[in-house]
Amino acid sequence: MHEAFIHRCLALAEHGRGKVGLNPLVGAVLVREGKIIAEAFHEEFGKAHAERALLEKFEQKIRSDDILYVNVEPCCHQGKTPACTDIIRKRGVKQVVFGMVDPDPLVQGKGIACLREAGITVTGPIERAQCEWLNRGFISLRSKGRPWVTIHSARTRGGAYAVPDGRPLKMTSEEQDRWTHQWLRGQHDAILVGVQTVITDDPQLTVRFGMHLPSPLRVVLDPHLRIPLSARMVNGDLASGTVVITAPGSDRAVHQQLMERGVSVVEIPLTDGHFDLSGLWNALMTPTGSFHGIASILVEGGAKTWQNFRAAGLVDEEVTLLGVA
Ligand SMILES: NC(=O)c1ccc[n+]([C@@H]2O[C@H](COP(=O)([O-])OP(=O)(O)OC[C@H]3O[C@@H](n4cnc5c(N)ncnc54)[C@H](OP(=O)(O)O)[C@@H]3O)[C@@H](O)[C@H]2O)c1
Repeated sequence: MHEAFIHRCLALAEHGRGKVGLNPLVGAVLVREGKIIAEAFHEEFGKAHAERALLEKFEQKIRSDDILYVNVEPCCHQGKTPACTDIIRKRGVKQVVFGMVDPDPLVQGKGIACLREAGITVTGPIERAQCEWLNRGFISLRSKGRPWVTIHSARTRGGAYAVPDGRPLKMTSEEQDRWTHQWLRGQHDAILVGVQTVITDDPQLTVRFGMHLPSPLRVVLDPHLRIPLSARMVNGDLASGTVVITAPGSDRAVHQQLMERGVSVVEIPLTDGHFDLSGLWNALMTPTGSFHGIASILVEGGAKTWQNFRAAGLVDEEVTLLGVA
């Protein structure tokens, strides 16, 4: 039965996607006599962790045979919120089942040890591979110091990624596009493109097809501010969710116009004509105001941009769609 309850934690955790920023996606359920009697998830960066949210809103007395399930080991340190192990002990939970160890060096098994020292029975990891896959972004932040990077490309049956004269080329079917929006765009915190793709395709870089998933942040690598001011991603509602990465010294007037629309313009120095990608990670992993940082990024092209990430050894996953054209 443990697996089914951890699966429920994972489904709950998904509701935090796009809102938890640099934190892990976490869900928790309380089970009594084989039935879920309370559940919660980490709703937003800075808000209560899943197990604390559950135990704070569950008003009944906890029984010794109740089991608390959580997909990531409970934390044992005071951060923006108090340690979850404290409330687990104080509320009298006697059994905890977890999905994966927290890779954060501040936790990494210490939460489990702390609960065991308090006489609580701790079981896990359960469904570890699934739990780690859901939180691959958070694991990457903690183990590599950068977001999880996925390259997404599409090519024609003849092997082309673009047409030489620069015309836009539609190569995927509607079914493939739906899949991309649900399983790639909808599962990453940001989508990144090179400026030439914006000039050629004028993409929106949103999640569409009626899916109720948060649209990721849009990031454009544009060292010389060549982005057209007519581009859809820097106009209307899309502007405030777009970040243009440019080099110091690029056109101040364009810079100013983008910022007036709500676009974030971030300057990162160039080394041999390329951005120092550690500067990019720094910008995308520093929470400011309502921006909570990102844990995963989908690199959608084009070829020069993919190549820059590959050459820097910064690719965790590659998905290529074989087009219908
Ligand atoms: N088949 C597909 O899946 C797919 C997906 C997306 C796009 N496309 C197609 O690909 C074509 C565009 O691809 P492309 O390779 O020509 O251009 P691109 O990758 O879209 O953009 C390249 C430009 O972005 C900037 N850039 C990218 N990485 C950078 C880095 N690390 N540091 C600094 N600047 C960086 C540079 O701008 P500067 O030139 O200003 O220095 C660079 O020349 C279009 O035809 C588009 O339709 C195909």
